[in-house]
Amino acid sequence: MCGIVGYSGIRPAAPILLEGLKRLEYRGYDSAGISVGHEGKLTVVKKKGKIKKLREAVPPKIQGVYGIGHTRWATHGQVNDENAHPHSDQSGNITICHNGIIENFNILKSKLLEEGYIFVSETDSEVIAHLVSKFYDGDLEQAVKTALGLLEGTYGILCMHADEPGRIIGARNGSPLVLGIGEGEMFLASDVTAMMAYTKHVVYIEDGEVVDVTPEGYHTSDLNNRTISKKIQHISWELDEIEKDGYETFMLKEIFEQPRSITRGMRGRLDKENGAAHLGGLNLTSQELLNIERIKIIAAGTSFHAGLVAAHLLESLARIPCTAELASEVRYRNPIVEKNSLYFAVSQSGETADTLYAMRELKRKGARVLGICNVVGSTIARESDGGVYIHSGPEIAVASTKAFTSQLTAFYLFTVIMARMRHLSLKDGMVFVRELGEIPSIIEKVLEKDSEIKILAKKYAGAKDFLFMGRGINYPVALEGALKLKEISYIHAEGYSAAEIKHGPIALINEETPSMFLIPNDELREKTISNMKEIKARKGPVIALAVDGDSEVGDVADDVIYIPRTHDLLYPLVMVVPLQLFSYHCARELGRDVDQPRNLAKSVTVE
Ligand code: F6R
Repeated sequence: MCGIVGYSGIRPAAPILLEGLKRLEYRGYDSAGISVGHEGKLTVVKKKGKIKKLREAVPPKIQGVYGIGHTRWATHGQVNDENAHPHSDQSGNITICHNGIIENFNILKSKLLEEGYIFVSETDSEVIAHLVSKFYDGDLEQAVKTALGLLEGTYGILCMHADEPGRIIGARNGSPLVLGIGEGEMFLASDVTAMMAYTKHVVYIEDGEVVDVTPEGYHTSDLNNRTISKKIQHISWELDEIEKDGYETFMLKEIFEQPRSITRGMRGRLDKENGAAHLGGLNLTSQELLNIERIKIIAAGTSFHAGLVAAHLLESLARIPCTAELASEVRYRNPIVEKNSLYFAVSQSGETADTLYAMRELKRKGARVLGICNVVGSTIARESDGGVYIHSGPEIAVASTKAFTSQLTAFYLFTVIMARMRHLSLKDGMVFVRELGEIPSIIEKVLEKDSEIKILAKKYAGAKDFLFMGRGINYPVALEGALKLKEISYIHAEGYSAAEIKHGPIALINEETPSMFLIPNDELREKTISNMKEIKARKGPVIALAVDGDSEVGDVADDVIYIPRTHDLLYPLVMVVPLQLFSYHCARELGRDVDQPRNLAKSVTVE
């Protein structure tokens, strides 16, 4: 969602801030701005729209070696220049950027208005600038701390004062903030991608912490001025991973990266000899793993769909009762935490507010929650009791693709561990692990169908509505196919269990409403083919995803995308890839902004 960047050092700040904001574009935003300090004056430039417009508005000769910047995703107030950040106090001596939501801003604003402060935006964030101004008496850090003491809600904040050149105060409560350490220069951002071009040495600021930054160094403390010593960490991601590398979009690059990202997620974790797997970060002894009687998965969006596949998988292979639930629903229904149950919070970004708050609620009730995350050092990863990093590499496109298959990979590994401790024999474990290890090369073969899928997408991109049907472990994949299509092409799409359509959705079928059927060669194949015939009988166009050689499906469907055979329980990893490509090409055909679809943000840090 919103992004913040800060720089204090020796180089001109504006290009570094603009570059940092550009790197944060993928998170989704609707306006952007920067503030740069020079000779006792802070200049603010902010614009509704894309960074390109901001870049054009920034005076080419702007001077100053320190500054802050922001990409806004509107929550309070319209999308316009005034509501964009940075916000200033009345004198223009103080500027702030804020991610998050100040829940008590109305009360604070009324008081400030009574005291004569003049507001120029409709945002909740502007109160922070006025509060800092009210408390400022020569020490910016102290003024920020006093102001923060009055705020309720979430924030990642950067603040500067014209009278304190080179100094930036950062603070965090619920919205990420990272400090990057360079040589005689410091970087601040909500996300490491904004600073990776300059430094890989970072310090993750935690909730309740304030960081006082100058080009020479930094000091971290809490709101009560107690010093907090921090560990410097090293980012393992490479710069080329956050660049398009010759692909027309990040999404296409990430779809094509899947054979490698899945391989990375399995590296050192597959134990072919013992038909088993290792996951170092679970923080559970064998006895504790054996004692688990129930597993519950919480997540949102695509990660939730990965959780649904995992629930089916864990029950089928490991015979452990398992359910997946939307994190947004868990928090508010006063969840019951049962003895011997294990929870997973699944999140690519590790910052999704719905998932994070549900996880905290479960932990408050005594649950043991493991994280399945991509972003190292993210809040969910840090607050969980252990877990698995999926090692998918940075996912820049808003629509999640490679993270989904990597999340599934992590769950396949975990399931093998659990299954081998219970009912799965050495022989069957070896077969399963071998087939799991072959998935990257199977996906390579599916990716070779890209141009064939592109032609199909051209044929169907004009549809107003689309249905996706799957059964069993592939039902969540149908949900994911529908989500992908709607979020990037804006075609209305729904996913159903193929068996369920006769209970209502079949009423939607006509010549103009195509259906995508997922038909692996498993025990539900024949029943799914019957469901497909029901659609054909009502003149609904049908595309099928079927296994190589399945001519019966070819006889019924209008179009078929054939995929290689794999283990019955591994089809989700393979089936989702043509669905990602199909959505991608439909969206391109319709001229959509695939990497940054309208109204969406990469990391949804508000409830
Ligand atoms: C869909 C998509 C979203 C996310 C959801 C959860 O393509 O990207 O549905 O999956 O917002 O995000 P994470 O996994 O970061 O918690």
